[in-house]
Amino acid sequence: MESHHATAHKLAIFGISGRTGRELAKVAGLKGWEVRGLVRPTSLLEDGIDNCRIVRGNFDELDRVIETIADCSAVCCMIGPRPPYRDVFCAAATTAIIAAMKQTGCRRLICQTGAMIGRAANRSRPMEWAARAFARWHPEAARDREEQEQLIESSGLDWTIVKPPRLTDAPPRNRIQADPFLRVGLLPTISRADLAAFILDEVQTGRFVRQRICVKG
Ligand SMILES: NC(=O)c1ccc[n+]([C@@H]2O[C@H](COP(=O)([O-])OP(=O)(O)OC[C@H]3O[C@@H](n4cnc5c(N)ncnc54)[C@H](OP(=O)(O)O)[C@@H]3O)[C@@H](O)[C@H]2O)c1
Repeated sequence: MESHHATAHKLAIFGISGRTGRELAKVAGLKGWEVRGLVRPTSLLEDGIDNCRIVRGNFDELDRVIETIADCSAVCCMIGPRPPYRDVFCAAATTAIIAAMKQTGCRRLICQTGAMIGRAANRSRPMEWAARAFARWHPEAARDREEQEQLIESSGLDWTIVKPPRLTDAPPRNRIQADPFLRVGLLPTISRADLAAFILDEVQTGRFVRQRICVKG
């Protein structure tokens, strides 16, 4: 196994070209983290992201995934299909991330999925209905995301799965509820800025290691 020296303040972000990913890169940069992210060559992100090192590549290029993670003390995964949700790639991408983490020796993985993914006892009835409707309309995407969560849970890493309801681009309110048993309905939202701040806090505190948590604003 190849071993890399982990530096306390380097963070790898997958999905850094996405909206939550960019918020996380911004907040981490402000807190003094060195940020590195993998961006696929076809991404609409053209100019890079301020103060971040971008590695260009795809998840099926393991060397690129390893290059993104090397020397990092934590990995955040904020990938997800863009509308019309036809891309089925999250489980395969997560397999690559886990393999790369095992090769580099990085153990801390925080992954954002969604409140509608998988089975959950704490969804309100309308939310449960919406989750089932999503799984009916996009069965492959739903299975892919559920498999993504299962891969993380059985990875043996120090993981946390963060499951938000509907995301907004509203300014931060600096208020977030987080708990494995938090009840989630269709109405609550959370701003990507608040979520990014929460995820960075979780990177630093490890309050929810090996837990699947629901969050809302
Ligand atoms: N939207 C919501 O209301 C909502 C609610 C709950 C949970 N979530 C979840 O929260 C996470 C972040 O959401 P967001 O809205 O902030 O993200 P987003 O802006 O939609 O960004 C998605 C990210 O995933 C990447 N991606 C998409 N398809 C890909 C593919 N085939 N291969 C490689 N990378 C790909 C994108 O890269 P490119 O730039 O290359 O496209 C981008 O970096 C996702 O997991 C999402 O499912 C969203």
